[in-house]
Amino acid sequence: MVNEYKTKKINNGLSGEIIIPPDKSVSHRAIIFGALTNGKIKIKNLSKGQDCLSTLKIFEKLGVKYEFISDRDLILNSSNGITSNKEMTFDCGNSGTTTRLLSGLLSWQNFNSTLIGDESLSKRPMKRVIEPLKLMGADISSNDNKLPIKIKGKSLKGIEYFSPIPSAQVKSCLMLAGLGAQDETTIYEKTLSRNHSEIMLKYLEADIEYGKDEKGFYTKIKKSKLTPKDIEIVGDISSAAFFMVAGAIIPNSSIIIKNVGINPTRTGIIDIFKQAKINFEILNQKTVSNELCADIKVNYTKNIQPFKIEGDIVPRLIDEIPILAVLATQAQGKSIIKDAKDLRNKESDRIKTICESFKQLGLEIEEKDDGFEIVGKKIIDKKATLETHLDHRLAMSYFVLSLINEKEMIIKGFDCINTSFPEFLDLMKKIKCTSCH
Ligand code: S3P
Repeated sequence: MVNEYKTKKINNGLSGEIIIPPDKSVSHRAIIFGALTNGKIKIKNLSKGQDCLSTLKIFEKLGVKYEFISDRDLILNSSNGITSNKEMTFDCGNSGTTTRLLSGLLSWQNFNSTLIGDESLSKRPMKRVIEPLKLMGADISSNDNKLPIKIKGKSLKGIEYFSPIPSAQVKSCLMLAGLGAQDETTIYEKTLSRNHSEIMLKYLEADIEYGKDEKGFYTKIKKSKLTPKDIEIVGDISSAAFFMVAGAIIPNSSIIIKNVGINPTRTGIIDIFKQAKINFEILNQKTVSNELCADIKVNYTKNIQPFKIEGDIVPRLIDEIPILAVLATQAQGKSIIKDAKDLRNKESDRIKTICESFKQLGLEIEEKDDGFEIVGKKIIDKKATLETHLDHRLAMSYFVLSLINEKEMIIKGFDCINTSFPEFLDLMKKIKCTSCH
């Protein structure tokens, strides 16, 4: 049975402080690269979302030991390396990051693997990693470039690869393949995608170099031994985004969101907040395990300006587009989101699903091949039952939208928020959101 969540408008503003839970992208990488150090490390502040737990369970199956020493801190022990039986099946759950990153690592192991996942993950395209891995000599078969993926481990050779899409999952997959390949592997991107893998591998002293030349943004990596070091994980700006937008659009709100990762490859939402003239501040900047982090204060903003998302900014806010679409409903004019066709390949076809739901709410939204256009409408006054399609970011975006809808809303399949953000409702309650139950 798909669960339903009934929610309605709040009459008070949001107020107070919250600490944002750990970044999922960085958490996946801490487990994966931590497990390749052949040592014992402490990971401080690991995401407990199901996606990151899927990654952790796979490494447990690969012989890596872990023990939580507090709610989000654990000791990861890979002193015996990663090992496996000849044939192993790994369940990636709902997590595209787990699937795509691990396919790079598993390609050069001395055992065979099958990667499987849930219904939504099994529909997502994997050609973007299968194709370049095959160029490196990997032996991979799939169900028409979708899961299940079968990998026969063998030795790989380094390549120079120009990624046709800016994707940190593709880049990190090839970096993980490159970590075990002969010769150097170079990945080029025209637009820089999130660079957490590069930052963490440099921190763990891998043989890696990254920068920009006349051909684009490059990452060069060679077979490396990683140094065991403790890793602390910053808060997730993709999770903070729901609170940032809620604070900006709900009258009388003023909230502080603490410990948010502000790596420049992730802060497209901050640039859009500037464009939209949102009343916000970035406070207390610091660096944690080589990642930048800060507190973000957001106040209700009466005159929100329409904004345009296009070009190079897209990979810097790709996961925040559903909640930025909610922000656009409150802007004074037409906001445009384009160059974002890859939204169709996320946990749902986010262009289609957002347009369908917003139309149900009587909002003016026009679907385009690579995005949508929304005309802001201050007052939303329509009862609706919205489908999440089990897409966690849609569920949380619709929840925020419900807080300004005059009429009651039902969100179907709301439980899917647990894949990324099980703490969402508790944090909403903490800033005095009365629509949580
Ligand atoms: C991620 C990269 C992004 C993002 C996903 C997490 C990562 O995907 O949408 O939620 O951790 O590398 P793409 O790299 O495919 O855009």
